[in-house]
Amino acid sequence: MSSPRPIRFFHQGRVQSVEGLPPQTTVLQYLREHARCAGTKEGCAEGDCGACTVLVGELDTDGEAVSLRAVNACIQFLPMLDGQALLTVEDLGASTDLGPVQQALVDCHGSQCGFCTPGFAMTMQAVYERHQACGTRPTRQDLADDLAGNLCRCTGYRPLLDAGERMFEQPVRTLDRAPIVAALRGLRDDPALHYEARSRAGTPQRVFAPRTLEELAALREAMPDARLVAGATDVGLWVNKQQRELGDVILTGRVEDLRRIDVITVHGQGAAPGVMSANGHLSAGPAVAAAAVPAPTSRTTLRIGAAVPLEEAWAALAERVPALRELWLRFASPPVRNAGTLGGNVANGSPIGDGPPALIALGARLVLRLGATLRAMPLEDFYLDYMKNALRPGEFVEAVEVPEPPAGTRLRGYKIAKRYDSDISAVCAVLSLRLEDGVARDVRFAFGGMAATVRRAAKAEAAVSGRAWNEASQAAAALALTEDFTPMTDLRASAGYRQRVAANLIRRFWLETRADAPVAAASASVWQAINLQRSVA
Ligand code: FES
Ligand code: FES
Repeated sequence: MSSPRPIRFFHQGRVQSVEGLPPQTTVLQYLREHARCAGTKEGCAEGDCGACTVLVGELDTDGEAVSLRAVNACIQFLPMLDGQALLTVEDLGASTDLGPVQQALVDCHGSQCGFCTPGFAMTMQAVYERHQACGTRPTRQDLADDLAGNLCRCTGYRPLLDAGERMFEQPVRTLDRAPIVAALRGLRDDPALHYEARSRAGTPQRVFAPRTLEELAALREAMPDARLVAGATDVGLWVNKQQRELGDVILTGRVEDLRRIDVITVHGQGAAPGVMSANGHLSAGPAVAAAAVPAPTSRTTLRIGAAVPLEEAWAALAERVPALRELWLRFASPPVRNAGTLGGNVANGSPIGDGPPALIALGARLVLRLGATLRAMPLEDFYLDYMKNALRPGEFVEAVEVPEPPAGTRLRGYKIAKRYDSDISAVCAVLSLRLEDGVARDVRFAFGGMAATVRRAAKAEAAVSGRAWNEASQAAAALALTEDFTPMTDLRASAGYRQRVAANLIRRFWLETRADAPVAAASASVWQAINLQRSVA
């Protein structure tokens, strides 16, 4: 086993080396209590308010550039920063020399209570950097979507959106990335992280951040009880809210092979070498490991590595299945999607996760690895019971494979929650079928929030499959839902509400997908209706 070493990352213009701090120290605690950078604030400590938003910089695989993403510092652990750069509100400018984002916030009176302002400034800086790099400008709705993870509880978002537009009217001044690139190149030569220190409770705790799939598989097999952590967007809450000790931790975020999105064309048992990196560039490449497990179909398939951030994974999914775009925008907040992963969302197995209903409706399968052995299973078979899955000791999720929907597939994703943005679903439904001469085929109705696990509505599907897709069959399916599910009452919704809304969603799906006079998506979507209203105004 490797020797322990300090955590090393770029912050405040130089490489910082940290040792001795408990491995579960959050980035926010480090900033405020150890680095004395108190500009970053703590509101909720659970990834909900955005007061703690910081930027994390990561070197691209070619080592030439650094990419920046906004994350919530309160639910990121310090060892996750190893080899990366941390930028905070202190990096944006000084009181006598404001950056364009800060100046725009001042000019538009966007600093209202002041407490959440640093978080807004960091999210807006990420937006500013992204658009300046591409030479584009966000619409007001784009800005609102980008700010969905920053909570303003006082006078509202109008001045903040004004500032988001105004910042592009300032003299261009982006963050200087050259020193970051130079520092991160140097950090690339460090061995994979093995960090040891006493936990907050005083017990020895180890953190490993392997860089290859083989290293990860060997560690996982040797330490089956260690906690696998990808984006920490859920585990961070266990620590902050439940004061849980995680024991030994294996981080998956530095394993390059888990950060790729590959497009594979499966012919029988083989895989063609069309390879796409997580940033979307197509290139020739070797056949992927999935060739070793039974092929799901002969269709093109997206193979999403388990450590690909949710934001990139959903962008790839929504590009192929545009009907999932609204669900993507409502799937947590941008900083949570930048940190969380699709693999983590799937392996977590929450009955109210928004990823599994979409993936199950699309017929996704999981590639699981134990040492050098791969096996595959349909995602719908992975969940055994409440928070119980089919993983064996030492096994982990390597990738999620999502086949392209058959031609003619009609699919819709619906999220029912109390708040439109950044909320947890009471019910999430992703419904899919293909019409063949008016008859429903390949029916897949997947629901979250209706049972102990996300699962398909077998009886409702049977009520529709092979029948004409009409008023009578949709009503039969809606009725059959009462045999499929016995939902529970909790703080998000009552059992009766869940049952009623699930049946209504089947009806809505029929109204939007029926052969005759389907209701246009634009008039059935709140999000699209808002856009429409704005463009008319
Ligand atoms: Fe609220 Fe971090 S403190 S998101
Ligand atoms: Fe802080 Fe509105 S700006 S609550």
